[in-house]
This record gives sequence, structure tokens and C-alpha cells, in this order.
Amino acid sequence: MLRGKRILLGVTGSIAAYKSAFLVRELVKAGADVQVVLTDAARTFVTPLTLGTLSKRPVLDNFVKEPLHAGVWNNHVELGLWADLMIVAPASANTLAKMAHGEADNLLLTTYLSAKCPVYFAPAMDLDMHAHGANQDNISILEKRGNIHIPSGSGELASGLDGQGRMAEPHEIREFIEADLQSKAPLSGKKVLITAGPTQEPIDPVRYVGNRSTGKMGYAIAEAASQLGARVTLISGPTSLSVSDGIDLINVQTAQEMYEATLPRFDSADIAILSAAVADYRPKKAADQKIKKLSGSLEIQLEPTPDILNSLGKAKENQILVGFALETQDGLANAQGKLERKNCDLIVMNTLQDEKAGFGFDTNKVTFVSHNNSVDSELKSKREIAHDLLDYIREHFL
Ligand code: CTP
Repeated sequence: MLRGKRILLGVTGSIAAYKSAFLVRELVKAGADVQVVLTDAARTFVTPLTLGTLSKRPVLDNFVKEPLHAGVWNNHVELGLWADLMIVAPASANTLAKMAHGEADNLLLTTYLSAKCPVYFAPAMDLDMHAHGANQDNISILEKRGNIHIPSGSGELASGLDGQGRMAEPHEIREFIEADLQSKAPLSGKKVLITAGPTQEPIDPVRYVGNRSTGKMGYAIAEAASQLGARVTLISGPTSLSVSDGIDLINVQTAQEMYEATLPRFDSADIAILSAAVADYRPKKAADQKIKKLSGSLEIQLEPTPDILNSLGKAKENQILVGFALETQDGLANAQGKLERKNCDLIVMNTLQDEKAGFGFDTNKVTFVSHNNSVDSELKSKREIAHDLLDYIREHFL
């Protein structure tokens, strides 16, 4: 959930500030881009060098960039808009009070006031300060405003006393945020089954019938669906691509293997997107040994492979079924025919006429063809097309 997310980490003056170094590592390891903003008080507990090295970004702690006479400021408005989410951890009683009442006397607070993204805060203070009515009121104000409270734990505190006020551990903060993002993600709870890449149909132990598909489109859909919170199973023919953690990747080689991997998983899927370039035919019998060169021509008899999309169309109950179509002529009519024939909800159509679209390219240009409309996309990155496809599915079918 945190991969590629831009995170502002506000660190305030608390002994728990030393833990923010571990929190930066947790977030960076999860794939996030972290910008640390320190208050003056935080700097007495943890150094900018530590946090800047771990986050791989210079730490910001002042309205004005050094050297002061150069007159360049740290633009808190831009920072606030840059972020996908903001975390204030540790959040001292002082900073919580200022956040609750809109005070703006340091860079962290002005950034907080400028941020439009979700804001999480993890209080850290001594037990009596934590329990004080003024502090509890401030926490309630922030919660009512939609900021998300990561509760502190109980245990031994820096004062030597025992009670509530210990900042949640860095891994707990990361897990809390991941679970929160997951529960709010648009495809949360949905199971998405995707086929991708080519298939290879053996002629003999070293040769096969294949095609030029690289799998980029299907992998981009898998990544996009996972980012939107879906549980993704990707059934892939041979490619050189890899997937993020959390995507269940099943590698297959032939159309038959892809069929056998896909069909039993369709029943429990909510959405099936079949982007694989499955070979329509395979050699009737693969030779056991490498075929030797002959003086004359060689004939290889082909037989049809199982049509996975067609089989899913027959088995379909409430699932949303999406097929791909590569058309070279009469694209729209053929795609509409395929939509009906294979009992799909949507066909994503490519044509070979579009430059830089289709097999091997990082870009694609497609038409979404459903029963009552068709929408042409611009030439876009496959990542953007993947998000457009999932947006279309959410808008029209969920
Ligand atoms: N497909 C499949 N199993 C196959 C062949 C294709 O699941 N054996 C799926 C592809 O993943 C794609 C869609 O069917 O989603 C389109 O395949 P295509 O070969 O273009 O469709 P056909 O109906 O075979 O039509 P034609 O080849 O005549 O265009």
C-alpha cells in the first residue's frame, strides 16, 4: 500500500524522536518516498543527518533555506500538496495543541495546514500529560477534523513512570497506516484474476510456437489493481517482468497450463481480466527429441488450444469478465462480436494501426468496448491505461 507513496514525516520534540529514524527505514523499505520535516525541539533529540541519510532527502527544518542571505524559502504550500499522506510521529503535546488550534509558527505546522492529504498522528508524552483533559480535547478536535490517531501504547516511559503515552513502535505505525489505507482503498476486498504475457507451445524440447507479447500491459494492470487494494492473482506466461510483494504470481508456459491455472480460480474472483496473448493453436504433438534438419520442408500440424476467455464466459455468474482483442481490421465490429460471443462485460481493443501501441511498447492506445458504449483512449503509458481500465470497471460495473 505504501509503494510509490509520497510521505511527509513530521518529527517533533519528544524522546521518542529517536524512533523516527526506524520509522523512516520502515517507510522507505515499504517503497515510500519520505520527506522529513523537523521542529526545532526535535533537532535536540535526533539529528537531520541521520534522518536525511535514511530518507535520502535533505531534512527540512526551517522556513528559509540555508544560506539565509540567499532569500530562498522552503515552500510549505508545495510540500503540503506534494504529499500523498502526512505522518506526525512522534506528536508532542505541544504540537498536537498547535495543530488543533491552527497555529503556524514552524515549517511543520504550516505544512500541516497546507496539506490536503490524510494526516496521521502518533502521540508521545508522559502519562499525565497524555491523560490531561486539554491534551485529550486536542486529540478529539484532530479526530473530528478527520486526522487519524495512532494511539500510544502503555509501558515504561522516559520519566521512569509506567502508563499510557509511549509512541507506537515504528513497525506498528507502518502496519496501522497500511491497514487503514487498505480498508479505504477502492478495490479493497475485491479479488482480481489477471492473465498476462505470451504462451509458448512446444514443438520439441528446444522450440516453441509463441508471439511477441511481453506481458507489460497485464503486469501494469496487476500492479494498479494491487495499489487500489485488490487481492491480485496474476497468471503469467514467460516474461522477463517481476511483480511487487502482495501479488500472487503463478507462472505457466502453455495455453493448457494457463487454462488449468485460471479456470478453478474464476469461481472466487470478482473481476477477471484476460490480457494474455494466448496461442490459438499448438503443435498437435511435441516431439520428444530435438527435430533434426531435413532436406525438404517440414510440416507441423497444429490443433486449437483451449479458449480460456470463452470457458470463463460460459462459467460466468456475477464476475466481471474483461477480454482483450487485437484487431487489424473492422476493429469495433469485431470487438463487439467478441464481447457477445464470449459473454464478456468489456473488451479492451488494440489495433496494430496505432504507433507505439501494443506488444513490447511501454505505451498503449486502446478502446474500451462494452455493451452500450465504446471509449477511445489517448496514447498513454501502460500504467495509465491500467488505471483507466480499473476506473472504467469501477464506474460501470461495481
Ligand atoms: N484468449 C484466451 N484463450 C485463448 C485465446 C484467447 O483466453 N486460447 C483470450 C485473450 O486473452 C484475449 C481474448 O481471448 O482476452 C482475445 O483473443 P483473440 O485471440 O483475439 O480472440 P478470438 O476470439 O480468438 O478471435 P480472433 O483470433 O479471431 O480475433
